[in-house]
Amino acid sequence: MTSLPPGPSASPAVQTAHWLLRPIAFLESCRRRFGGTFSVRFLGFRTPLVMVSDPDTVRALYSEREHGLPVGRTFALRPIMGPRSVLLLEGSEHLERRKVMLPSFHGERMRAYEASVAEIAAREIDSWPLERAFPLHPRMQAVTLEVILGAVFGVTDPSRRELLGRLLPRLLDSTSSANLQFRILLARRVNRPGPLIRLHELTHEIDDVLLSEIAERRRDPGAADRDDILSLLTLARFEDGAGMDDHEIRDQLVTLLLAGHETTATGLAWTLDLLLRNPLVLRRLLAELDADAGDGYLRAVIQESLRLRPVVPLAGRHLASELRVDGLTLPAGTDVTPAIWLLHTRPDLYRDPLAFRPERFLEQPPTTYGWVPFGGGVRRCLGAAFAEMEMRIVLSSMLRSRVLRAASPNAERPTRRNVTLSPRYGTRVIASQRAEASRDTTSRPDPTRPPDPRALTAPDPRTLTGPGPPTVTAPDPRSSRPPHSQHAVV
Ligand code: HEM
Repeated sequence: MTSLPPGPSASPAVQTAHWLLRPIAFLESCRRRFGGTFSVRFLGFRTPLVMVSDPDTVRALYSEREHGLPVGRTFALRPIMGPRSVLLLEGSEHLERRKVMLPSFHGERMRAYEASVAEIAAREIDSWPLERAFPLHPRMQAVTLEVILGAVFGVTDPSRRELLGRLLPRLLDSTSSANLQFRILLARRVNRPGPLIRLHELTHEIDDVLLSEIAERRRDPGAADRDDILSLLTLARFEDGAGMDDHEIRDQLVTLLLAGHETTATGLAWTLDLLLRNPLVLRRLLAELDADAGDGYLRAVIQESLRLRPVVPLAGRHLASELRVDGLTLPAGTDVTPAIWLLHTRPDLYRDPLAFRPERFLEQPPTTYGWVPFGGGVRRCLGAAFAEMEMRIVLSSMLRSRVLRAASPNAERPTRRNVTLSPRYGTRVIASQRAEASRDTTSRPDPTRPPDPRALTAPDPRTLTGPGPPTVTAPDPRSSRPPHSQHAVV
């Protein structure tokens, strides 16, 4: 039967508002009412978006190379990323770019970046206030921006780096608010030029700097010995022997910036939030780091964090051919996306799905279509190995040199920032020098404090969904109550 699955009947404006303001609540309520496959209607789109959440359907969706990009990805990003962005091209044009860019992001190459990421992280951590609450998310954004300027753009000239360090956050800020997304969607609805037009002046200013950097790199006789991705792009060749021209390289640089900066910073902020609220996990991780006992548990912590807090909640396709889902045949032309949160919290895939339990990935590595924080198929995130390397280095630097405590008893809740699900209050923490603190302070029981009864209850998925009282008090590592629930609560 060719038809779309049922979904909420509220107007597109109401569904869009729910999705932008309380994304997890919206998804959970759809799952409760319609099961794992349903259709939603968002403002600015003529046709519904079908959300799916079972691994076989996700496999079928991501394995078909011919499926295109959902229209939503291009309209908001093209004016900034440019017409030849690898994230926005389709078909053979897309595959050619991917082929040329993939070697730069190969897992083996990541070693070349580790030292500079560690240096950037150490500088950033040294600048943090001690014994005073501050939001970690903006600090992680500063780290990931510096990493992109260094490892990806390879900018070494201090004045150019300073200029980009000032201009790029303005671009990133102006593209990340839910308010902007509302205005873009509204502009589409009434066929008016969108608010992104106003960003043109800023992007021109940034382009001037990037084009000067590209021109300089082309003249650099030592470019072949450099590790940064801009140098690799200036040397890369398509199959016909042609290279990318300067404007195309500019498009790819801005794409890597926008795709890799906010996402990785958000992944780091969520991982810290989860660690600070799960002292047993934090203690095991610290023991591994202190003993220099490999990075197996650290990798599992990051995988588990990306499962429970998928930074990018949707990574869809525009069907080029029919797709069978739940006894229905979705016709070509339908927009379909995995609802990554729903997939990642299926009890048949993950025992105790709302628990933050990295051990599950030591017992069994993530499956290709049951764990998709980086999407899949021919569009799977190019920077996945880079992001995981960066997260490993930054997390271990932070945890080795500081004791961090959650500044608020309220667990973080997700809010939408551009294409990401981000911690609403920026993951506020209080830092102390680690050398001054006992290495075991994260979990030693404090006999003077009674256990918090709320902490012993399993989390209610509804607490993941919006405003309301917190259900679990954040552990204060220095007060060191007995390690309690490992459940994650946002
Ligand atoms: C935790 C961090 C990150 C997350 C969660 C993430 C997630 C994603 C997702 C979901 C997609 C879409 C995949 C699809 O449609 O199937 C994607 C694409 C992409 N990402 Fe990432 N990403 C992260 C970090 C990075 C980094 C660090 C870079 C580069 C420096 C990067 C570069 C890209 C590029 C170029 C694409 C487009 C791939 C294509 O269309 O062929 N990402 N990412």
